[in-house]
Amino acid sequence: MSSNILAVETSCDDTCAAVLRSDGAIGSNVIASQGLLHARYGGVVPEVAARRHLELTVAVIEDALERAGCSLDEIDTVAVTRGPGLIAALLVGVSIAKGLAAARGLPLVGVNHLHGHVVASTLTLRGEDSVHTPRAEPIEPPYVCLVASGGHTFLARVDDLARYEIVGRTLDDAAGEAFDKGARLLGLPYPGGPEIDRLARAGDRDALDFPVARPEGGSGTLDFSFSGVKTALLYAVRDLGAAEAERRRADLAASYQRAIVTALLGRAREALDAEGVRRFALGGGVAANSELRSGAAELCDELGVRLFSPPPELCTDNAAMIAGAARFLDPLRYPDYLTLDAAARP
Ligand code: KG4
Ligand code: ZN
Repeated sequence: MSSNILAVETSCDDTCAAVLRSDGAIGSNVIASQGLLHARYGGVVPEVAARRHLELTVAVIEDALERAGCSLDEIDTVAVTRGPGLIAALLVGVSIAKGLAAARGLPLVGVNHLHGHVVASTLTLRGEDSVHTPRAEPIEPPYVCLVASGGHTFLARVDDLARYEIVGRTLDDAAGEAFDKGARLLGLPYPGGPEIDRLARAGDRDALDFPVARPEGGSGTLDFSFSGVKTALLYAVRDLGAAEAERRRADLAASYQRAIVTALLGRAREALDAEGVRRFALGGGVAANSELRSGAAELCDELGVRLFSPPPELCTDNAAMIAGAARFLDPLRYPDYLTLDAAARP
């Protein structure tokens, strides 16, 4: 599909809208984060998130159009995240996208949020929205992708950008959840991933020996488990005592981060080996982690595999990746999409 796409993403606690131009360049990628709003509760409160999406989505869409220098008349397709995510939050984006598409007589594409993370590495960046230099070459299939976010962690094989095949997944917590829960144990604010990332730079990652779980059960040998490392951190903090744990917080953060990153990259190595693919992509909020990014670069150097790690603003939730996935999907035409189900699972 070659058209200007306006995308909306409201699956969790970021209100996002983006314009993707017909040449594949990102015209704008606006993210109104609700992070501070939820920090006081130590996590996302779905009802609060949905109400804030309702207040912000239209303004964020207007901002995305303005930054892209684009009027609604120049939009050919509307795309929206249809799931998975918080139902009340998704409904806001889906309702507004449907209303906009119906009013303008435009086709609508419902996108699986995780598909967005899988194809984030296919986007090129241009313009003022990014402080990063554009990548000349976006990724092309076949590739193996590691998606690690707050709600999901999996390895996928991509042969066709319209779909992906999961080859390994977490059997319990997502990697981002492990970061967030670990941060809470260390007394750090929500969202914990960036906090642990920052604190770990001042710590010794070999200070404590946290377990790197290698589950053999589940659907396949490329699966992950992060509940054990979280419990190990809980015990370490308890055994050290409050004062000593506070004093050694950077060491705890660095060792904990190392265990999570080692587990992610260990399975990624096995997946690249098993799939015999020479391209590796990162996606999801945890892919913004500095140790994961540098570790992935070392792994790919060693294996002779090309690494595609999207800039951090395309790793965490954003609407550009939703527009990116929409390019490869069939749109629904009015009035068919009036029955689009926000609660539909992938
Ligand atoms: O993909 P995302 O923005 O939202 C979901 O789809 O869940 O991922 C959010 C997750 C949170 O758990 C957050 O703590 C984590 O990504 N995260 C990080 C970093 N930045 C965000 N985890 C580790 N290091 C980071 N720098
Ligand atoms: Zn996400």
